[in-house]
Amino acid sequence: QKEETAAPAAAPAEAPAAAPAPDKLKIGFMYVSPIGDGGWTFQHDLGRKAIQDKFGDRIETSFVESVPESADSERVMRDMAAQGNKLIFATSFGYQEFVQKVAADLPDVKFEHATGYKQRENVATYDTKTFEGAYLAGIVAGGMTQTKTVGVVASVPIPEVVRNINSFVLGAQSVDPSIRAKVVWVNEWFSPPKESEAAASLINGGVDVLYQNTNSPAVLKTAEERGARAFGKDGDMSSFAPKAHLGSAVVNWAPYYTKVVEDTLAGNWPQGNYWWGVKEGAIDLLKIADDVPQEILDRVAKARAGLKDGSFAVWTGPIKDNTGKELLAEGQVADDQFLTGINFFVAGVEGKVPG
Ligand code: GUN
Repeated sequence: QKEETAAPAAAPAEAPAAAPAPDKLKIGFMYVSPIGDGGWTFQHDLGRKAIQDKFGDRIETSFVESVPESADSERVMRDMAAQGNKLIFATSFGYQEFVQKVAADLPDVKFEHATGYKQRENVATYDTKTFEGAYLAGIVAGGMTQTKTVGVVASVPIPEVVRNINSFVLGAQSVDPSIRAKVVWVNEWFSPPKESEAAASLINGGVDVLYQNTNSPAVLKTAEERGARAFGKDGDMSSFAPKAHLGSAVVNWAPYYTKVVEDTLAGNWPQGNYWWGVKEGAIDLLKIADDVPQEILDRVAKARAGLKDGSFAVWTGPIKDNTGKELLAEGQVADDQFLTGINFFVAGVEGKVPG
């Protein structure tokens, strides 16, 4: 796999100076779960394939899957760099400290860290507004729940996940303010058995519509077995549970990955923080089930159009936490600082954010 690009030391002096072949940009992707997860990682890999197709032999992409958010990730990134990768996408939050460490040692490699917030000269951060997809799914949940109790199988208690849980509930309550929500944490991104167990316990507790912030279709499959309804997240999961499936909140990484590669090839790697949503085509609720009433489809279409043209924001007051404290006043729109620091549950969600 190693490529030696340096000229041999003893090149004959009379050799004509050939124009150097343009170097391929080598790009490595590090994934936290298998590419076959049907969700988060599957979708990042679709983004990788999209840039490989678009830029052809100007780039060479590779990936390593199922890399834990531990020192293992540091080893994988150093290895990618040793193999000549000059751009490395680290696609899970828990890689953050390891990205920082490796990036400090390798200033000529550019790092792209998904869902993180720590940048440096050679580290950009990026994410999609998954909470906008969660809100659109919430509207559908609000129209479909009979028990008026929705549930979320939650992964790791970071602000992104807490924001998504709340946004799902806000969507449901936009249809019926009396809707309540339960949350079960599995403390992992990808553990189908635990995801299933959590889904079953929510259903046993009276939940009839589920959302999840984990990586696999296990929650959907459990809903299908138990006669409940649920959503796909990150990827189109409709085929895993055709009866239970109410829609998939699908992330599209291709527009951002294309921008990064285009800019990098032009010598202008875009260091910064990118957070794209419905407006930029980075997230949408797709494949909404046929039995969802027209009135609910209209509400989804209206919210989506508002997110697209900027006339609507999910986090618009009045919003109270579940202790009754008002956090956003009537008409007040949350800024990014508020959104990235959400560590409470909105009114109607049972329990407390861990930690
Ligand atoms: N799955 C694995 N890592 C992540 C992450 O950082 N964010 C989200 N939403 N899902 C993930």
